[in-house]
Amino acid sequence: MQSGTVRFKFSGEPIEARAGETLLGALWAAGRAEGLQAGCDGGVCGACTVTVRFDDGRPGGTDLACMRLVEAGMEVFPCPVEPVAAKAPACGPSPESLRAAYPTLDRCTQCRSCTTACPMDIPVMDSVLRMQRGEWQAVAEDFTTCIHCGLCRLVCEDKVQPHNMGLWVRRSMALAEETVPAAPDPGAGEWAWLLDGDREERLRRATEFRRDGKVPA
Ligand code: SF4
Ligand code: SF4
Ligand code: FES
Repeated sequence: MQSGTVRFKFSGEPIEARAGETLLGALWAAGRAEGLQAGCDGGVCGACTVTVRFDDGRPGGTDLACMRLVEAGMEVFPCPVEPVAAKAPACGPSPESLRAAYPTLDRCTQCRSCTTACPMDIPVMDSVLRMQRGEWQAVAEDFTTCIHCGLCRLVCEDKVQPHNMGLWVRRSMALAEETVPAAPDPGAGEWAWLLDGDREERLRRATEFRRDGKVPA
């Protein structure tokens, strides 16, 4: 083996890669692009999910192949996560509406597997507990960087679906914000007055407004 070369296994097959390459880059260079889904090649889309093990007992886990660098002795397996249909958001999350959409919420056994699996370092389990307590703002912030790779769902033996719930909370909060009536714009009356009439009239009004600093009562 040349120096600067790393040997790892992908789905059981040995592959040689340049040290410092990502797993995804190494697979492409080895002509194995068809072995793994990929999208952005930048840690954003969540398509390239893999499980990683080591033949010498080092701890492995789940990761994104476009971000994880090759290491000697790695055993890598693709783990595409099946999409699940999104549940319609409610207008503002409440404990009742979240539990109606996701009855899985209270199944969490606090095993922490989801937090360990998350490639974005999101405190997934803690966020599930925040959902149970209705701490919506914190939940929305937790999932700001979620790329919806689905790994937290894949590893959850209790089928809690944490990231689907996190997305639902964010959408439900956004829906509530959209339906709040807009506050009256204090400048709207001034603009209406300034934009009224033909060009000459608008010019006259603008001059008057500049002079008086207000529109006529
Ligand atoms: S993997 Fe599932 S059961 Fe375990 S902490 Fe996460 S949500 Fe809870
Ligand atoms: S919270 Fe779940 S879906 Fe989101 S990035 Fe982490 S593991 Fe992926
Ligand atoms: S290819 Fe998009 S996250 Fe890896």
